[in-house]
Amino acid sequence: MKKREIHIVGNWKMNQTLHEISEFFIQMTAMKMELKCKAWIAPQSLHIPILKEIAFTTGAIQVGAQNCSYADSGAFTGEISPAALADIGVEFVIIGHSERRTIFKEDNEILNQKVLAALKHNLKVIYCVGETLEERESNTTFKVIEEQLAVGLKNVPADKAHLLLIAYEPVWAIGTGKVATAEQAEEVHAFIRGKLTQNAEQTIILYGGSVKPDNIDSLLRKENIDGALVGGASLKAKDFKQLCTSA
Ligand code: G3P
Repeated sequence: MKKREIHIVGNWKMNQTLHEISEFFIQMTAMKMELKCKAWIAPQSLHIPILKEIAFTTGAIQVGAQNCSYADSGAFTGEISPAALADIGVEFVIIGHSERRTIFKEDNEILNQKVLAALKHNLKVIYCVGETLEERESNTTFKVIEEQLAVGLKNVPADKAHLLLIAYEPVWAIGTGKVATAEQAEEVHAFIRGKLTQNAEQTIILYGGSVKPDNIDSLLRKENIDGALVGGASLKAKDFKQLCTSA
C-alpha cells in the first residue's frame, strides 16, 4: 500500500487547440473517468478558464498553471499573477520546469521568489528539479539537485509546506523517449526526500520525463515515486485515462 496518494499531472505545455480540448473532454466523459488517483492538468494559461468551466473538472480533475510571476501585480508586462490565478480558482502551479530554466533563464533565486509568491496565495506548488545529461554524465546529479532544492525552497513557511510537491524531471528524459529506469528515478527521489526539511514523509514527489502508459507501472512501484508529471502522453484522453487508472 502506497504511503501517499498517487498524483498524475498533465503538463500540456504550449499545446492543445480549442478543438483538441473539446475532443479531450468528450472522450473523457465517454470513458466515465474512474479515477484511482489525483488527476491534475496544467493547460496553457489562456485555456485555464475554459477547463475550469468544462464539466470534467467538477471535482474530477484539478486545473493548474505552468508558471506564475513572483509579483502579485504591477509593471510586469506579459506575466501571470499568482493572486489572479488564485482568484479564478486555479488549484496549483508548476514552477521551475526545465524549459523555464533553460529557455527563459529562470535561476534558483528567481524560482524561490515564485515559489513563495504562489504559496502566499495558497496555490499548491509543483517545484521542478532535475539534471542535464552532461551533469549526469559528470556525476554531479545530486549536487545540482541539492542546490536547486536548497535555494528554490528557501524560507518556505512551515504552515505552507503541505502545499508543496516536488517533480524530479531529468532533462535528458524530457520529450526524448528515454525514460529514466525505475531504479534511477527512485535513487533520486529518495535523495530528494532526504533533503526536504519540512513535511518530508508526506511530500508528493513526482517523476517526469517520457512517462507513458507502458512504463508508468514500474515507476509507481517504487516507494518514493508518488506519481508523474506527464507531457506528451497527457495530451490524448485515452493515454491520460490509462495513466490515471493504472495508478
Ligand atoms: O513536465 C512534464 C514534461 O516535461 C515531460 O514531458 O513529453 O517527456 O512526458 P514528456
